[in-house]
Amino acid sequence: MNGAFHLNNRHELMEKMGPDSVAIFFAAPEATYSHDVQYTYRQDSNFQYLTGFPEPEAVAVLAPGHEHPFTLFVRPRDLDKEIWNGFRAGVEGAKETYGADAAYTIDTLADHLPTYMADCKHLYFKFGADAQLDAQVFKALNAVRGQIRNGVKAPQHLHDPGLFLNEMRLIKKPYEMDMMRKAAQISAEAHTELMKVLKPGVYEYQMESVLNSYFRERNARMGYPAIVGGGVNGTILHYIENHTRLEDGMLLLVDAGAEYAHYNADITRTSPVNGRFNEAQKAVYEVVLKANEEAIALTKPGVGFDEINAKATEVITEGLVDLKLLQGNVSELIETKAYQKFYMHKTGHWLGADVHDMGDYLDDEGNFRKLQAGMVMTVEPGIYVGPHLSNEVPEAFHHIGIRIEDDILVTEDGYENMTAAVPKSVEAIEALMAEA
Ligand code: GLY
Ligand code: MN
Ligand code: MN
Repeated sequence: MNGAFHLNNRHELMEKMGPDSVAIFFAAPEATYSHDVQYTYRQDSNFQYLTGFPEPEAVAVLAPGHEHPFTLFVRPRDLDKEIWNGFRAGVEGAKETYGADAAYTIDTLADHLPTYMADCKHLYFKFGADAQLDAQVFKALNAVRGQIRNGVKAPQHLHDPGLFLNEMRLIKKPYEMDMMRKAAQISAEAHTELMKVLKPGVYEYQMESVLNSYFRERNARMGYPAIVGGGVNGTILHYIENHTRLEDGMLLLVDAGAEYAHYNADITRTSPVNGRFNEAQKAVYEVVLKANEEAIALTKPGVGFDEINAKATEVITEGLVDLKLLQGNVSELIETKAYQKFYMHKTGHWLGADVHDMGDYLDDEGNFRKLQAGMVMTVEPGIYVGPHLSNEVPEAFHHIGIRIEDDILVTEDGYENMTAAVPKSVEAIEALMAEA
């Protein structure tokens, strides 16, 4: 929690909403892992951004024109439940620690919610994400409509708060940049540690455990299930079983990032299990590396998000033609999307509190938007010679799966590669592994 950061975020959002409006945010629900076992709780990213309040079963109401602009509905203190399941801030803590102007227990939400909507024109709520929450909000809205004859006005304009909030989250504040640098640093070091202990005979899950242990030692955790795929598994984009023995001659693709203080890193590196790339592996690797580096080098304010993607696609397609894995004219192969047999995803996405972070990719005219200082995106080209290509390409290329992914902060005059510390060139990876 960073009280000043959350307070500023609330003020900024309420400023954009205007005085005759109300916004409602629900905390993330707890999620079941099995029977009566829960996943480790993670707060909803919008809720976190606006409140820092870490508990489930909570609702935040932002009402700029109300006598209590920031209200939290929370679980009541409960000694018995706290003995079993941990501390609750309760109504007092919601006010004292989290800065709520008013706080009530969550069981009174239905009674209070209409009073916040009364005489507001605009209601901000993310309808459609959860039918039960929609029903609660609609019920309150309808209760306000029922008071129209008493001279009360009900909101007639319904908006997704993402209209403002996604854009706010897209441009990182200095505090967020610091947390992201920290997540990136921990992740970069963990990938480097993994490369040092990688060798034939170890299992993918053991390599996952190197990352996990490194993260937990530093009060971070996996931001998403790690992809640790050796050989053909590296050609499966969302492979997360991580159960295979790594053999001499395989490549290992590792896509893993730490979440630290609610912010994520997202790194992919691909290394030779035995410490040396063979000729075909090296040839494909150099193409992906060039795509990664040239796309990153383009980054600065004013450049279109699609230009980054186009640059990587062009380098990959040229490389595939040079390697004779594709035949034909580069522009035509791009035009007809022929390269997608080998490179089937986009070059990047926004990164932040969510790994695939909030924020539109298109502007109001439907064009890919221009980069701005404070945005963070991944650049992650790849080439995947999966089993579907075994009849089309020479055997030396079979089951080569390579992705190289970095996290790039757009700065006023260019960019900062937050994950530059992980070895990336063939020489640097081989040297590190040889030394280890
Ligand atoms: N790790 C998910 C992604 O790279 O998008
Ligand atoms: Mn990734
Ligand atoms: Mn990514």
